[in-house]
Amino acid sequence: MLITVADQSPPLQSGYCPGVVQRHNLISEVMKQKTHITFNLNGEKAEVAFAPHKTLLEVLREDLNLTGTKHGCELGECGTCAVLVDGRSILSCLMLGVEAEGREVKSIEGMAEGAELHPLQKTFADLGAAQCGYCSPGFLLVAEELLKRNPSPTRPEIQEALSGNLCRCTGYIKIYEAVELAAARMRGEEYELPRESVYGYE
Ligand code: FES
Ligand code: FES
Repeated sequence: MLITVADQSPPLQSGYCPGVVQRHNLISEVMKQKTHITFNLNGEKAEVAFAPHKTLLEVLREDLNLTGTKHGCELGECGTCAVLVDGRSILSCLMLGVEAEGREVKSIEGMAEGAELHPLQKTFADLGAAQCGYCSPGFLLVAEELLKRNPSPTRPEIQEALSGNLCRCTGYIKIYEAVELAAARMRGEEYELPRESVYGYE
């Protein structure tokens, strides 16, 4: 990891008290620093330079233009920023970008295999498990981690795994069903959807 210095911000003009000038110069010294990391992003080597205070979420969205990872609470409470780091789901709003150095990061942009959607992406679409879709990248990646670890999760296990992800519009039943259907398809099994999933509640 390298620390490099970017362009200088203009010094304060005369007329400010020395303390203000000193603080301004100190802050601009810190702000103009850029850190440079190399890591594996969605299966490919990536290099990026960014201000060292940035979170992984900010680096992905602002410096790598990967806006599939969504920006929610920034407090670790909604799960919408979840990505996989070395195969484990993490909240990218709580991880500094510099911590990604040398690691494997997977964002939603890396979930499909070329033009082939991941089975979870298909079942989310088939079952209407996304409405606005804002929460979906986080749900999908956390569910992917779950199915890798446990190919036959029970409903309570799915609920527990996804308990850190909030959906503001779909509700959770369709999301749980989409994970169950994807798990069944990945195991090569038939799975019959509950009648209410197809026809709604009477
Ligand atoms: S934006 Fe990271 S948990 Fe909400
Ligand atoms: S589908 Fe809109 S927040 Fe979940």
